[in-house]
Amino acid sequence: MAKTVKRVALAVGAVVVAGALGYGALVEYGLHKSYPQSMQPESGSALQAQIKRGEYVARLSDCTACHTKEGGQPFAGGYQLNTPFGAILSSNITSDKETGIGGWTQEQFDRAVRHGVGSHGYLYAAMPYNAYAKLTDQDLTDLWAYIRTIPAVNNKVVENQLPFPFNQRWTLAGWNLLFFHDQVFQPSAQHSAEINRGAYLVDGPGHCASCHTAKNLLGGDSAAYLQGGALQGWYAPDLTPNPHSGLGNWNKEDIVSYLRSGTNRETASSGPMTEAIENSTQYMNDADLHAIASYLQSLPASDSHKPAPVASSATAMLTGKKVFESQCGACHVSDGSGIRQMIPRLAGNAQVNSADPSSLLNVVLNGSQGPFTHANPTAAGMPAFDWKLSDSNIADVMTYIRNSWGNAASPVSADDVSKARASSGAKPWLGGAEK
Ligand code: HEC
Ligand code: HEC
Ligand code: HEC
Repeated sequence: MAKTVKRVALAVGAVVVAGALGYGALVEYGLHKSYPQSMQPESGSALQAQIKRGEYVARLSDCTACHTKEGGQPFAGGYQLNTPFGAILSSNITSDKETGIGGWTQEQFDRAVRHGVGSHGYLYAAMPYNAYAKLTDQDLTDLWAYIRTIPAVNNKVVENQLPFPFNQRWTLAGWNLLFFHDQVFQPSAQHSAEINRGAYLVDGPGHCASCHTAKNLLGGDSAAYLQGGALQGWYAPDLTPNPHSGLGNWNKEDIVSYLRSGTNRETASSGPMTEAIENSTQYMNDADLHAIASYLQSLPASDSHKPAPVASSATAMLTGKKVFESQCGACHVSDGSGIRQMIPRLAGNAQVNSADPSSLLNVVLNGSQGPFTHANPTAAGMPAFDWKLSDSNIADVMTYIRNSWGNAASPVSADDVSKARASSGAKPWLGGAEK
């Protein structure tokens, strides 16, 4: 399920508005730019070490998330990314000469990965080249050395399935002009080497902002950097040290443990983040995980304030408490404290306190498998309540957990639940049949 909602407010909406800009920009920006090949892949015995480094860069960048279809061959593409305007399929990037990138030079690869120009012209920002632009020459060259070793798979993919005018790639030049900073990572002299490494991992290969930064109307990143972003049916929360909606109450080890195993003393991951952890962050080495944690802790806290909680005497709170005690308390515990490293703590949980309840609704309606990682091979699951509870019961229990034990967040309505049920493909409530 989460596979189909991956990543993101795509930039596709941008094409209509930016289209006009695009044509002029094409001439200015796109056609005449050259991409010099600054480094050559190693050869001989050094090559094996380089391929290993490249494999690590591919892990950091989570290339497999989009380029390997569920049940498909590694990197053979065809994975579908849905946008409000239609579907985009990922490319075959195996070394097949006919349907993959087997005939490519490093320069062509660089052009696609760091500069957003593929075999058919400009790439859609569904491929996160705006983040990969930050990759160093060394990492890009290592990555290419590894990608070239991927066995050829003959699989023809027609990437662009969008209707006119969204299928016009030249219009993307306008989007690039507005939102694409085509520049390699620049370390900051004010920060330690560790924080710079963390910034590189987060903004470059890790492309965390593609989910955790809200998008503007044209699908570009808003200024609220890493302060939370909606992706269809999920909400990727605030990663700044805000104590209410962000990671302010997490220490460094909490962040490291979450990225390595998907769990920590507070919470457990679900949905698209579980996939990012399983495919990518669990493979990061200790120094890199600590670098990410140090960087996130160095960010200025977002200025979202804690709202006044819904009064515990409100009808929704009273009904919600009853639902919680009968359906949820056995696992999450009546004071919302959960079970360490296994069942998320709901009290003081940033996701539960987020203004946007999408992820919570998704998990309660559809259940969640829990992360499955080397560090956490026996994840606990959360059962689905779509069939068991009515829209109004789910709304009330949401309002209750969002406004108890020190939590405070906007109430959730039955209408919100009904919409989430439809958009997340949840089952109808069984009790609803009699109505
Ligand atoms: C979030 C999903 C996503 C991730 C992560 C991702 N890609 Fe892509 N990639 C795509 C999509 C979708 C396309 C096709 C875009 C289009 O047709 O405009 C694409 C296109 C490409 C192309 C262009 C192929 C061609 O024939 O033009 C290359 C090369 C590529 N990706 C390599 C990579 C590498 C290497 C990584 C990891 C560093 C990576 N991708 C990570 C989604 C992704
Ligand atoms: C594909 C989209 C996506 C990408 C890419 C992504 N995240 Fe997430 N992230 C999410 C979602 C959705 C959640 C909420 C999961 C949940 O509620 O269990 C989340 C949750 C988190 C949390 C837990 C926050 C909390 O308050 O519970 C942390 C920490 C986090 N992500 C860090 C990162 C970092 C660091 C990166 C980059 C290396 C990253 N994420 C990349 C979607 C993403
Ligand atoms: C059988 C035990 C169990 C029951 C009963 C249960 N949960 Fe959960 N819940 C879990 C587990 C385990 C997770 C973590 C799932 C994951 O990691 O994907 C979870 C996750 C959650 C989350 C996401 C927390 C986060 O940090 O993203 C919310 C919200 C939640 N449950 C609310 C509820 C509500 C409301 C009920 C009752 C209607 C309920 N749960 C009943 C075990 C349970």
